[in-house]
Amino acid sequence: MSGIPHDHYEPKSNAEKWLHRRLPIVDLIYNTLMIPTPKNLNWMWIWGIVLTFCLVLQIVTGIVLVMHYTPDTSLAFASVEHIMRNVNGGFMLRYLHQNGASLFFLAVYFHIFRGLYYGSYKEPREVTWIIGILIYVLMMGTAFMGYVLPWGQMSFWGATVITGLFGAIPFVGESLQTWLLGGPAVDNATLTRFFSLHYLLPFVILGLVVLHIWAFHTTGNNNPTGVEVRRTSKDVAERDTLPFWPYFVIKDLFALVVILAVFFAVVGFMPNYLGHPDNYIEANPLATPAHIVPEWYFLPFYAILRAFDDSVWVVQFASFITGGIIDAKFFGVLAMFGAIVVMALAPWLDTSSVRSGRYRPMFKWWFWLLVVDFMVLMWVGAMPAEGIYPYIALIGSAYWFAYFLVILPLLGVIEKPLPQPATIEDDFKATYGKSKSTGGGLADPTPAE
Ligand code: HEM
Repeated sequence: MSGIPHDHYEPKSNAEKWLHRRLPIVDLIYNTLMIPTPKNLNWMWIWGIVLTFCLVLQIVTGIVLVMHYTPDTSLAFASVEHIMRNVNGGFMLRYLHQNGASLFFLAVYFHIFRGLYYGSYKEPREVTWIIGILIYVLMMGTAFMGYVLPWGQMSFWGATVITGLFGAIPFVGESLQTWLLGGPAVDNATLTRFFSLHYLLPFVILGLVVLHIWAFHTTGNNNPTGVEVRRTSKDVAERDTLPFWPYFVIKDLFALVVILAVFFAVVGFMPNYLGHPDNYIEANPLATPAHIVPEWYFLPFYAILRAFDDSVWVVQFASFITGGIIDAKFFGVLAMFGAIVVMALAPWLDTSSVRSGRYRPMFKWWFWLLVVDFMVLMWVGAMPAEGIYPYIALIGSAYWFAYFLVILPLLGVIEKPLPQPATIEDDFKATYGKSKSTGGGLADPTPAE
C-alpha cells in the first residue's frame, strides 16, 4: 500500500473483529493516535503534552501524599513534616508535587500565549479555547486550595486574604464567605473542605482535558501559518499533514525529556527555590506575616487585584454611579476575574480575518508588549503595595484590558496583513526548498536558493 499506511483501523484477527463489533475502542485509540496533524507544527506545540504529563504527575503524587497526610488543623503541619522526614521517599514525593504545580503553570502560560500569538482561539476553535480557560480557572482553584493544606503561615494567611475577597461582594459577600470557609474564619472546616475539593478538582480537570482534546481533534490543529490544512487531497505528496504517531509522538517526547531534565534538576537541587520560607512555620492566626505573597503563578492576577485602590479615578467613578456599592476592594475582585473573562472572549474580540500573528505586522508588536506586560505584572505582584509599585501595577493592568478590549478589535480594521501562503505545503517549500516527498510526505530539508 502506498502513502500513509493505516489511514483507517481494520480489525484483522478474529478476536479484534469480535471486540470491534461490541466496543470499537481500539478504533478510537487508533484514530486518536493516527490523527492527521499539520506537518509544520513548531516547538510551541509541545506544551499540550507537557500539560498532560503534569496532570498525571500531580494526580499520582497527590494520591500517594494523601496516604500520609492528615487534614486536621492540629495535625496537618506535623503530617507534612512526617512525610518529609519519615516516609520513604516522602520528601521527593512532596517536592515533585510542589514543583510539579509550578511546571504545570509554566506550561499553561506558554500554551496560552502560543494560542494568542497564532490565533488558535479563532473560528472554528472557540470551544477548545473556552474549555482551556475553564481548565485554567480550575487549575488556579486547585493550586490555591492545595497551598492551604500544609497549614503553614502562608497557607493560612493566603487563604484568609483570598477568601476575604468574596466578602467584598455587595449584599451576599459576607454569607458567601462564611459558606466558603465553613465558619467565620479560616479554620478546621476550611481545611477539610479545601482538602476534599483539592482531591476532586484534578479529576474534573481530567474530564475537561478529554473534551479539550476531542474539540481540537474535531476541528484539527491550528499551525504556525494559521492556514487550514487541505483535508481532501488523495495525493500523499500534496497533503499538509502527517499522522500523529510516530512523528509527533517522538517530537513531543523529546521535548518532554529535555524539559524534565531541567525539572528534575530543580526538584533535586533547589526544591524550595520557588516556595516561601514562611510556609515552613506552622499557621498562627495571631501572627500576621510582614508580606503575604501568593505563589509566582498567581502574581500577575494578584497585581491586577491590588492595582485598583481608592485613588484611581475609575474606581471613584464606579463607586459614585453605584452609590458606593462598588468599592475599591470589590472593584479589584471584578478586575481580577475580568482579566480572565476578557481573555476568554478573545475569539470574539479579535476582528482580524488573518489567524496567525506571523502575517500581522502591527499585531506582533502589541502581542509582545502583552508578554512583557504579563511579566511586569508578575514582578510587581511580588512587591509591596507602596511607592512606585501601585502605579506600575495600574499601568500594567490597564494595558491587559486595553489589549483585549481595544487593540484586538481595532487592529482587525486598521492593520494591513502580509500575504499568507495558500497552503501549508507552499510555506514548507518556501522555507525548506522543493518537496521530494515520498510515502511519509517528508520534505527535503535543503533551504531554497
Ligand atoms: C491541563 C491543561 C491542558 C492540557 C492538558 C491541554 C492539552 C492540549 C493539547 C494536547 C493540545 C494539542 C497541541 C498542543 O500541544 O498545543 C492543545 C491545544 C490547544 N489548547 Fe490546550 N491544554 C490545556 C490547557 C489549555 C488552556 C488553559 C488553554 C487556553 C486558555 C488551552 C487552549 C488550547 C488551544 C486553543 C489549542 C488548540 C491549538 C491547536 O489547534 O493546535 N489549553 N491543548
